[in-house]
Formats: sequence, structure tokens, C-alpha cells
Amino acid sequence: MLATAGSAIGLGNIWKLPYMIGVNGGSAFVLVFIACIFFVGIPLMMTEILLGRRAQKNPHDGMAALALEANANNLWKYIGGIGMVTGLLILGFYSVIGGWVLSYIWFALQNAFHNINGLQAKTNFDALLASPIALVLWHTIFMFLTMGVVARGVNQGLERANNILIPALFVILFILLGYSMAVGDFGASSHFMFAPDFSKITPVAVLSALGHAFFSLSLGMGAVMVYGSYLQRDVSIARTTIYIALADTALGLLVGLAIYSLVFANNLEPAAGPGLIFQTLPIAFGHMPGGSVIGVLFFLLVAFAAWTSAISLVEPAIAWITENTQITRVQSALMIGVAVWLLGVAVVLSFNNWSSIKIIFGLNIFETLDKLTSTILLPLGGLMMALFAGYVMKKDHVQEELGLKDISFKCWRITNNLIAPIAILAVFLYLFGFVK
Ligand code: PHE
Repeated sequence: MLATAGSAIGLGNIWKLPYMIGVNGGSAFVLVFIACIFFVGIPLMMTEILLGRRAQKNPHDGMAALALEANANNLWKYIGGIGMVTGLLILGFYSVIGGWVLSYIWFALQNAFHNINGLQAKTNFDALLASPIALVLWHTIFMFLTMGVVARGVNQGLERANNILIPALFVILFILLGYSMAVGDFGASSHFMFAPDFSKITPVAVLSALGHAFFSLSLGMGAVMVYGSYLQRDVSIARTTIYIALADTALGLLVGLAIYSLVFANNLEPAAGPGLIFQTLPIAFGHMPGGSVIGVLFFLLVAFAAWTSAISLVEPAIAWITENTQITRVQSALMIGVAVWLLGVAVVLSFNNWSSIKIIFGLNIFETLDKLTSTILLPLGGLMMALFAGYVMKKDHVQEELGLKDISFKCWRITNNLIAPIAILAVFLYLFGFVK
């Protein structure tokens, strides 16, 4: 359970959700996102955990075993295969952003945020983005940290550390929120995030919100399946899922509230994009009492959260290689590490020297990887898992694994078999231009 929470809580909550709220018009996005967590994220997280716990193998072989058990086509195993690749594609940019966080620990240690204003914070961040060498260096360190753990196998010490560090992250966020409420424009922030304005809900916001529900809960690529296979038999899948999903969502919204209080009080741009937290939080750390220490602690905890998520992004691929070939963990970690590192270098360049290179629909390398994984590959993986658990597996097996009684099992079935697949399909139809 700790490992799953460690996978779910990461840059998705602290870095990505806040800026997506800004880019997609605030409360409209938040509302749809929360709905996606409840009607798609929670049921599908239960599904993914149950598949993992029943299969007791890496996602690819696990899906093959479950298909065999259900007398179904062996092609279902490719859900696992596609998921492994998706994880590596995500890690390609995740590691670069993890590197940004590491560099901010370094800045914070040097007390670089002292009395900083909005313009200086933006200039600092832009200077970092303009330096491929610095970015590659930090990305390399982040990859070393991630692959170092992966090469040694599941690390229980790290998982147990989640027990202390996730609550610590909440504590720091409450301090930050308290400060932003005191000096920032909390009224404008809560209005921006929560005042319902249905007219602002656009198809693109729905698309991004659904994709982000998958990203934030680590769904659709097998990470949760791998950790589900470690979950003891007597642990309730429903309860575990609900705790994790609520903590994960609450954390992201807390960061959002703190950030937008600062954004509105300092006349900053809500739709600043991926740099948002790096351009706003230093202002708080630079002025609050004890801010130099709190800033260091904050970025350290975020780096830790990113690290445990990054590990879960590669684990399915490494588990598959080591369980099927003679290649050792260390060798496979090295090979995959180099490949993902190279992808990360391309992502780094997309923020500076290669920023004008567009891959598809005017998106640069970073944006393409991000959109491809969050809005297509993760929901696709989730859809296939939902269909498999809902229509291919024997109902008794599913119910036995979930351990749910009649009414709650029915609720899961309705969301897993109907609501979630229809929502994902509707979004795909829009995405591929069938619905205008
Ligand atoms: N959920 C992680 C985060 O929010 C990212 C992640 C996505 C991890 C998919 C594993 C799989 O940062």
C-alpha cells in the first residue's frame, strides 16, 4: 500500500495539477478532474490492483496468465507490453522535471530565494531552462538515483520512508497554505479553483482532466498492477484505493490553492504552464519566516515523492525483462537507464535549442510525450483493463479478489463496466475527430 501511495503521489500532484488548472481555466477543470477521479480513477485503480494481485506477475505475463485462466485470447497480454513502454516514455520527461526539482533544492540551499519577487523568480527559472548543460546534469542525477534503486530490486526501506515523508509533505503544504492565506489572495484563489462555472468546461479541459486522473493515480500502465501483486491477501482493495485516491487528490488541490493565492497577490500569470510552481513558490520561501529552511525541506520532499514515482514507472519493464531473460537486474537497469536518459536529453533540448522542432499538432518533444501518454496511452491501458476485468474475467473471481459485498460490488461493476469505459471512449471519439 505504501508503495502504491509512493507511486501515485509525485510530480503529478505538485508540479502538473497546479499548472493544468491554470492552463485549463480553473474551476471548470477542477470540477471535471474530481469527477474523473471518482467515476473513473477510483474504480479503475481497484481494477488494476485486483488484476495485479490475482496475477502475481509482471503486467505482461500477468495479463497472459489471467487471459489463460479466463480462457480468453492471449493478445490481452499486450496491455502489459504497451504499459511498459508507456512507463518509459513518461520517465523520459518525468526525470527532466525531477531534475528541475533537484536544482531547486540546490538553489534553496544557497538561499537564492531571499526576498525574491515574481519577476526575479521567473528570470531564474527561465535561465535554468535556457541551459541544456545544467538541465542534462540534473536529469542525469535523477536518472542515477532512480535506476540505482531499480537495479537493487524492491527497496523496503524506501517504501517505509513513505510512512513519514508523505505526512511530512502534507505538513509543509499546510504551512505553505497558511502563509499564502495570510499574505496572498486566498479569496481569489479559492474562487478561481472552486467557483463552479459550467460555461467554461471545454472538450479540451475534459480531455486533459481525464488524462490527468490516470497520470495522477499512476493508472493504465501496470505500475499499480505490479504493486497490487505485492499486496497481502487480507488487505481490502477498496479501502486502500480510496485512501490513496483521496490523499493524492487532496494534496494536489492544496498545492493549487497555495500557489494561486500567490499568483493573484503578485499579479502573475495563472496560465504560466510547466514552470508555474518554480516561479511562484520561491516567492513564498523568500519572504516567510524560516523560509530558507522550509524551502529546502519542501523541494527535498518533492524530490523524494518524484523518486518513488519514477521507480514505479520503470519497474514493470525491469520485472518483465528479469523474469523472462537471463539479463540481470543491474544489466537491464543499465540498458533501460541509458535509453530513457537519451530520451530525456531530447526533452531537455525541447525547452531550449530544439524548442522550434514540432513533432505533431504543433507540439514540441516534451509536449508530445506528455500528451501522448496522458491523453492516449494511459486511458487506453485503463480502458482495456476495465473491459478485461468487467467482461472477460469470471465474475466470481473478480468479486472474490475485491472482497466486496453485493451493493458495493454492484457500484464497482457499474462504474468499471459502463461509466468509465463510456467516458474514455467518448473522449477518444472527440480526440480522433469523430465528434466535434
Ligand atoms: N502518479 C505519478 C505522479 O503523480 C506519476 C506516474 C504516472 C507514476 C504513471 C507511475 C505511472 O507523479
